Amino acid sequence: MGEKNRAGNPNEQVYMATTVSGIEDIAASEMQSKYDDLKVLRKKRGKIFFRYEGSPGQLFSLRCVDNIYHFLGSFSIGPTKKDLAEIPRKLRAMNLSQRLIGLYGDLSANSVIVSASRSGKHTYSRYQVADAIQDALVEVFHFGRGTVEKHDLHFRVDVEDGSAFMHIKLTPATFRYRGQEKQFLTAALKPSVAHAMVLLSLPGASDVFLDPFCGSGTILAERASYEAREIIGSDISTERLEIARENLPEKISLHCWDARHIELPSGTVDRIVSNLPWGKQIEIGDVSQLYTEFMIEAKRLLAPGGIMVLLTDQEVEIMRAAELAGVRIEKRTTLSLHGLNPSIFVAGMADDLGVK
Ligand SMILES: C[S@@+](CC[C@H](N)C(=O)[O-])C[C@H]1O[C@@H](n2cnc3c(N)ncnc32)[C@H](O)[C@@H]1O
Repeated sequence: MGEKNRAGNPNEQVYMATTVSGIEDIAASEMQSKYDDLKVLRKKRGKIFFRYEGSPGQLFSLRCVDNIYHFLGSFSIGPTKKDLAEIPRKLRAMNLSQRLIGLYGDLSANSVIVSASRSGKHTYSRYQVADAIQDALVEVFHFGRGTVEKHDLHFRVDVEDGSAFMHIKLTPATFRYRGQEKQFLTAALKPSVAHAMVLLSLPGASDVFLDPFCGSGTILAERASYEAREIIGSDISTERLEIARENLPEKISLHCWDARHIELPSGTVDRIVSNLPWGKQIEIGDVSQLYTEFMIEAKRLLAPGGIMVLLTDQEVEIMRAAELAGVRIEKRTTLSLHGLNPSIFVAGMADDLGVK
C-alpha cells in the first residue's frame, strides 16, 4: 500500500517544503511566482515554511522542492529520555483528533510511520523520538503501525531545542522523481536541483536550449516543462544517450557530441544549462583542460544575451576555465548534495562585444 494522496483539503494553511540546502531562495521564488495566495514565512537550511490558502493538491506542481508537509502544530519537549513519556499527553493537548478524522476518516484504518530530525542538546536520538511519537500516535488516535515499505500516513517531527514541530507528509514518495519510482540513473542529478538550474537560466519561449553533458537527461526533462524554440541535449556517451532517449519526449533532439566540439553554428544558443562531469565522476584525466576547452566552445555558441548555468564541485578549475575563456561568472550558489558541496555557477553574455 502506498501513501494516500491527501490532495483536496483546503482547511489547513501552513506548510513546510523540503529541498536541497542552497536552493531555498530559488524554490521560494518559484512558489511565490506560481501562487498569488502563497506567502513564504521562513526559510531555513533545506526547509521553506509557507502559508497557502488554496487546495493542497495545487502545490504538487512545485518543481524545486522534494517533499511537501502539512504543519499540524507544535508542543514543548524536554531534553531527557524520560521526557519522551510526556508525548501522549502533549499530543492529546494539541486537539488533533477532529482535524485528523476530518482528513483521514477512521484513523484506525490508517497505518503510520514517523521520521524525526533533532537539533540542540538532548539525551535521546532522533530514532528514539520517532519511535516515541509513533507509539503515542497509536495510543492516542488508534492508528495502526506501518513500516517504511507499507504505510498510509507519514508523520515528521522536527525537534528544535525545547520544541517539537509536527507535520504530515502530503507528497507521495514518487513526487520528487516526477512520478517515477526512482531516477533514470543512480548518478543522475536530483530533479529539484535540475529545475532550479533551469529557472536560474530565465527560460524563454524563443530559447534554443542546450545541455552539452546531458547524461540521462534530467535537466532536459525539467526544461521540457517550459516552452522553447528548441531543446537540444548532447553527451559523449552513447549509452547515456540511449537512456536519455527512452525517458525524454521526442521533441528534444539528442546528439553524440564532445562538449568541446558542438556541431552548431556560432551565436545560435540562448541557454546552456549543464551538470558538468565532476572530478570524481569521470575518467577523463585533466578536468581543467576539459573545462577550459568547453568554456571556449560555450562562449562561441552563446548568442548575445545568452545565459550559462553550470553545476560542479571543481571550483578552482571552473573559475580558471572561465577566466581563460573570457567568461565572467556573475553568480554562485553553493549546495549541500550527497555529502558534497558543489556550486551552481551562472554566467551571462551581455552583448556581441563579449561577456558582461
Ligand atoms: C555529471 S554527468 C551529467 C548527469 C546528468 N545531468 C544526468 O542527470 O544524468 C556528466 C556527463 O558528462 C558526460 N561527458 C564526459 N565528458 C564529456 C565530453 N567531453 N563531452 C560530452 N559529454 C561528456 C558523461 O558521459 C556524463 O554523462
